[in-house]
Amino acid sequence: MSGFPSEWLAELFARTDMAALVSEYVPLKPRGGRLWGCCPFHHEKTPSFTVSPDKQVYYCFGCHKGGSLVNFVMEMERVSYPDAIRMLADRAHMEIPEEIDERALKQQREKKERLYEANRMAARFFYDQLKGEEGRSARAYLARRGVSPQTAVEFGLGFAPREWEALTNALLKEGFSKEELVEAGLAVRSKKGEDGAFDMFRGRVVFPIIGTYQKVIGFGGRAMGDEQPKYLNTPDTPVFNKRYNLYGLNRLRGSSAGSFVLVEGYMDVVSLSQAGVMGAVATLGTALTPQQARLMKRYVPLVYVAYDGDDAGQNAILRALDIFEAEGMETKVIRFPGGLDPDEFIQKEGAAGFDELRQTAMSKNSFRLANLASRYDLATEDGRMALAHAGSALLARFSPVERERYTTELARLTGFSAEVLREEATLGGAQEGESPRKNSPSRLRNTKTAGAPRQSGRKDAELLLLKLADGDEGYRALLFEEPELLKNTAQRALLGHMLERGCGAEALLQQGLEGEEADCAAAVAMLPAVEDPEHCFADCAGYLRRVHIVEELKELQEKASDERLTAEERIQLVIRINNLNIKLDELNQTESERGEGFEH
Ligand code: UTP
Ligand code: MN
Repeated sequence: MSGFPSEWLAELFARTDMAALVSEYVPLKPRGGRLWGCCPFHHEKTPSFTVSPDKQVYYCFGCHKGGSLVNFVMEMERVSYPDAIRMLADRAHMEIPEEIDERALKQQREKKERLYEANRMAARFFYDQLKGEEGRSARAYLARRGVSPQTAVEFGLGFAPREWEALTNALLKEGFSKEELVEAGLAVRSKKGEDGAFDMFRGRVVFPIIGTYQKVIGFGGRAMGDEQPKYLNTPDTPVFNKRYNLYGLNRLRGSSAGSFVLVEGYMDVVSLSQAGVMGAVATLGTALTPQQARLMKRYVPLVYVAYDGDDAGQNAILRALDIFEAEGMETKVIRFPGGLDPDEFIQKEGAAGFDELRQTAMSKNSFRLANLASRYDLATEDGRMALAHAGSALLARFSPVERERYTTELARLTGFSAEVLREEATLGGAQEGESPRKNSPSRLRNTKTAGAPRQSGRKDAELLLLKLADGDEGYRALLFEEPELLKNTAQRALLGHMLERGCGAEALLQQGLEGEEADCAAAVAMLPAVEDPEHCFADCAGYLRRVHIVEELKELQEKASDERLTAEERIQLVIRINNLNIKLDELNQTESERGEGFEH
């Protein structure tokens, strides 16, 4: 649990309007006493993400993520529990209580500060090296690549000398330990168990990566010849995560660029910027992540995806478009002719050429369709037919207006009539989309014919039991006495907290739960109160007991079919199977007296 005093947390929760908070990230609409929207944690078109402002709980019926406002901020901002609390406190204009600045937290912050400082000094060191005698070859390299000295200064580019311990020694002199340098990703341990460490970056042109708070968080190092890898990047450290940051973003804070240009490489950013193209940012050696898309969304409403013109680049565009779409970000696609990357293109055609490409950038769906079409041989009947099928399936994903627009295009490409394609798209589209799940005990009654229990029925039963425990100490005790009813670790942990703290899911969420325990507590909090607890408990417990027996039976039967068993082992198994069958029959008997059978 969190370690913040509970009265202070209660005050923080009371002062925070959860609906307003969530609305900053997700558009919400009221329905049935709650707010609904499309889930920010998975891709969906029909809203199954819901917020209860009264309970201050969110939950997605689609992906089953949920929790309190703190969990929400943790997810959206990718911060730790204490940092989320800090952000919320800041928002609510509340001071963090003194005694809470616990030693561990303080140490963590101090350590981070040390790593930032080490990175800052390293950047300075590399920068000086580029200017000095040692940096001659690197300066020549940059000149050869068309990077002016002024641009190099603007980006703080540097040079890591070819020696083994140049930076390490320089920073040891400044009072940093080898431990710290390794942790910052600036040095590498020589060998297991040995005390030595050597420089991470050697003989490379260095691109410092600067976070949004203008602190150096890591580096990318370009080999100057054919050495591998071509680029070496700082590994993940306490201050650097390449999935959550973007190269070049620091320079765009407060800039008036109404859109960003997303490219693949450091050099692309540098080159575009030097040519006067504003707003270039790059991922850090990985494919685009949702967190990076969200990060961009804080600055601009539109991103031009300007990946390399080769095949790999084109495929990466498709994935990036999906991610942007899931995050609700507008996109356009810039395509470079002849397999060029942005850097190569701009060296050839200049900013004017680039602006021309930008003006004719494709919409995301137009790109998707063109990319799909490029995979078929449209000179043949088979090729056109295959594209008609695949294209219709693609159209089914589009909004009605977009679908209409691109149906014409697909008709032109394939020779099929728009009408037929429309029909095909509608058929394909019917399988898509999930509706929010209903949570009523009556759902359980429909599962009785299931030979193998369906996961959803089982999950419903488990949640309903927890809901009963949520509102009533008696049921907490009952569940505690029959622990085998709940097999899931997070569910059992939640029950444990309820017993230990003597409170329900909502209160527990306020005191601080994380991960699956928070998801589970949110699911419980969102369930409506159970109308007939006694009947519900009997229903759910009975159902789960039978489900578990059926599962065990299946397992034993599988074991029994193993040829290598000895006669004795087989007899033991058969006895156990018989006993379980008898138990199941008894349970079914009780159920059928209550009007519910369960076949196996
Ligand atoms: P590219 O191979 O397209 O490099 O990698 P580039 O940007 O065109 O670089 P130059 O022009 O050859 O110098 C694009 C990005 O992928 C990451 C880097 O972030 C690079 O900028 N990358 C590439 C690596 O992390 N490691 C590698 O070995 C190669
Ligand atoms: Mn390049």
